[in-house]
Amino acid sequence: MFMYANKTALITGASSGIGEAFAFSLAVRNCNLILVARNETKLKELAKELSAKYNVKATVIVLDLSSPGAPQTLHLEVQKQQLKVDLLINNAGFATYGYFEQISGERQHEEVMLNVAALVDITHAFMPDLLRNRDGGLINVSSTAAFQPDPYMAVYGATKAFVLSFSEALWAENRKRGLKVLALCPGATETSFFDVVGSSEASVGSRETPQTVVKNALKAFEKGRSHMISGRQNYWVAQVSRFFSRQTTLNIVERTLRPQN
Ligand SMILES: NC(=O)c1ccc[n+]([C@@H]2O[C@H](COP(=O)([O-])OP(=O)(O)OC[C@H]3O[C@@H](n4cnc5c(N)ncnc54)[C@H](OP(=O)(O)O)[C@@H]3O)[C@@H](O)[C@H]2O)c1
Repeated sequence: MFMYANKTALITGASSGIGEAFAFSLAVRNCNLILVARNETKLKELAKELSAKYNVKATVIVLDLSSPGAPQTLHLEVQKQQLKVDLLINNAGFATYGYFEQISGERQHEEVMLNVAALVDITHAFMPDLLRNRDGGLINVSSTAAFQPDPYMAVYGATKAFVLSFSEALWAENRKRGLKVLALCPGATETSFFDVVGSSEASVGSRETPQTVVKNALKAFEKGRSHMISGRQNYWVAQVSRFFSRQTTLNIVERTLRPQN
């Protein structure tokens, strides 16, 4: 089990989608929140709604986490406000889609900075907080894209494979130190994600709601699981690489994700 009441959770990418769904689910459990993203208006509206409805403290920190030094700025801001983080949810992330050389190099650099570098730096900065009471939590949002290379989403798939590997390693390092670590691996989910990608061709299978993903995630987190693939269909999609050779898997995924135009 994990006791959420009167603890503080920091959620990156809290202004929409899965991050916003985490914010609601944790507020219902009486957990105070630190909401981080770039969209100040959305974050402030969310904080207002959550504190009014659930009587929790919701702090807003507006930051572009892909910019250099942002994780350190975030940590300093949290310290300045004399807050301690018990549960860290590294959720902010985005994907790019298409032939690698045709996608902006700057955008793919931003993708690595946000999905990987910021996630590692934020985790490192808050680790002493998470470990201090032998009762902390870390949820890193990976993806079913992590289980095999993803042609046409080469950078995204690699960032999410990193998140899965990194999180599972931390799960093993910390399981006897009172810190629960979960790599959350959703499949296609009904959020702004595909609008940001700019194509729904990267969407495989039916989409889950962010509320379902978060419900499944919290259940797995409380059980102390190291990773969780949300949804039965997504579970089987993620097993393809276990049943076929690496090359056959690549061919299957290449055909599935190949742009139609
Ligand atoms: N939806 C899916 O199908 C799916 C599947 C597997 C995994 N995931 C993963 O789930 C996570 C959440 O995505 P989502 O589906 O909920 O998509 P979303 O609705 O687009 O949410 C993305 C969140 O990340 C924030 N964000 C983006 N760039 C940022 C930056 N530079 N600095 C700070 N915050 C930033 C966005 O807020 P601002 O724009 O306000 O900054 C937003 O709150 C991502 O890591 C994604 O890779 C999604």
